[in-house]
Amino acid sequence: MPVSRRQALQIGGVGIIGAMGLAVPLSSVSAKSASLLDPRNMPKPYQQALTVPPVLKPKSTVVGTDGKKTHLYHIEQTAGMASIVPGLKTPILGYNGSFPGPTIKVNQGERIKLEMDNVLPLFHPQWGYRLDTSTHLHGSASLPQFDGYANDITGRGMCKDYEYPNFQPARTLWYHDHAVHNTAQSVYSGLAGQYHLHDEVEQNLLPQGQYDVPLTVSDAMFARNGALGYNDNTHSGLWGDVILVNGAPWPYMKVQRRIYRFRILNASISRSYRFQLSTGDPVTVVGTDGGLMPSAQQVTSWRQAGAERYEILIDFSKYPAGKRVELRNLSNKNNVDYDNTGRIMAFDVTGDPVDTSGPAATVMPTLLAGSTAMSLTPSQSVKTRQMRLKRDNGIWTIGGTTWDEVIKSGYKKVLANPDLNDVEIWEVENSSGGWFHPLHIHLVDFQILSRNGQAPFAYERGPKDVVYVGEGETVRLLMKFEHNRGRYMIHCHNLPHEDHDMMGQFSVGYNPNEPDPNDPIEAVKPHPIGQVPPAGGAATQPAESTGGGGGGSSEPTEAAAPAAPQPAAPVTP
Ligand code: C2O
Ligand code: CU
Ligand code: CU
Repeated sequence: MPVSRRQALQIGGVGIIGAMGLAVPLSSVSAKSASLLDPRNMPKPYQQALTVPPVLKPKSTVVGTDGKKTHLYHIEQTAGMASIVPGLKTPILGYNGSFPGPTIKVNQGERIKLEMDNVLPLFHPQWGYRLDTSTHLHGSASLPQFDGYANDITGRGMCKDYEYPNFQPARTLWYHDHAVHNTAQSVYSGLAGQYHLHDEVEQNLLPQGQYDVPLTVSDAMFARNGALGYNDNTHSGLWGDVILVNGAPWPYMKVQRRIYRFRILNASISRSYRFQLSTGDPVTVVGTDGGLMPSAQQVTSWRQAGAERYEILIDFSKYPAGKRVELRNLSNKNNVDYDNTGRIMAFDVTGDPVDTSGPAATVMPTLLAGSTAMSLTPSQSVKTRQMRLKRDNGIWTIGGTTWDEVIKSGYKKVLANPDLNDVEIWEVENSSGGWFHPLHIHLVDFQILSRNGQAPFAYERGPKDVVYVGEGETVRLLMKFEHNRGRYMIHCHNLPHEDHDMMGQFSVGYNPNEPDPNDPIEAVKPHPIGQVPPAGGAATQPAESTGGGGGGSSEPTEAAAPAAPQPAAPVTP
């Protein structure tokens, strides 16, 4: 029987009291623990093997008249149970019930249509808010109506059909919830997964298959019964004492004596990391948020905030069998650290036979790939805009405004209105000493020109869509507003900041007061699960990019055999 709203609010109330009871000692930046677990339930580093989320299979594939494939995928957002801490179960929310969600892999030029069903409880079982969702594919130049606009929500029992064009160069993307005001708690509860876009350049240069390993790093705190705890310190941020990689606490992974590729996604809602190998050896950074860098960069440590992705190569051939190499976290200013937050995971080098087939198994690549973002020059810019990130009367603001003002304007208020294909420089300033902000701009990849007048860090010299704007920092970003017309969000990716209310939007290529064929809320509505969506609604984006909207006729000429139904809720680890 469904819970009544009143009951749900009561349940929520208990949850909130429970969360406050966690009482993180905030005055100190380093403490023993945030979790209230009994010591026998408290996970310890390097006890569990790393698991890699399953790769999602398409339900079917059709080939359009243009010869291009469209894969149909289906995901159910459901409540699930995960085994994260020893001896206890943790209620989570997950894509197909698992945390992190399954990985989607696709080749450049093949479109994806994703049926995203909301079969979550009506209200969050612990925190009581209404579980409407909006799914964003972070790193994709999707049309606005498929971009996970915060107020384009899908309620319980409804399905939204998302379309992803995949015309961009190879990159590590991720899909996650983006629902207005509740993104932080919904992503923290588990609504996040990786999405890998492949292309030939990348397939010829970098390790593939089992040597191409997604590492989704997050942090959590637990209540005594094993449930997730939540305390965002009046929207400053949440800092858990347990580090999870692909949903398991401080896992270990057995590796051969060869080169591996790791796609590191920081899916923490607030925490930033400064990663380093315990050996002090450098790693080779080959990819940033928007894909391959022009050239590989060797770094001994790097700073990575929420939503940033770095693809790194580690050469284990230089270590003897039996050696343990740890991935550690040196931390950054304005994080709260605990006993074991300095550790992430361990790689155990084995004496197993070494598979040296495939690209970059034994030799590090040096020259990688150019990209639009990295070939832009400041002289192409037609406009420089300034934006400040700051806290005003307890509310986080971006460019002096909040998402609430966007809502109150009927979604018309914009921070910028470049023309389609304009190149601009955005100068983003964080003058505070008290917090850092990972700023994310939807739609575009950008080049970081400078930070406080200096060159960006070596590992940032690739196409980016999130920039770490540290304490007292001003960054200059260069970008081209290509691909689509319409309104897109820009926000801080410290998710409690985003939710309260550090988000705005910009409009590309048209006046926001005119009717918008790609209206992010109105253009494609969710429909009841199991019903065919209304015909003619969805605009299809051509797989070659640019223009926005318009007809892509795809006649099914060959339907693949329907994939086996997804097993019910694979539970991590
Ligand atoms: Cu990863 Cu607008 O977010
Ligand atoms: Cu995004
Ligand atoms: Cu912020």
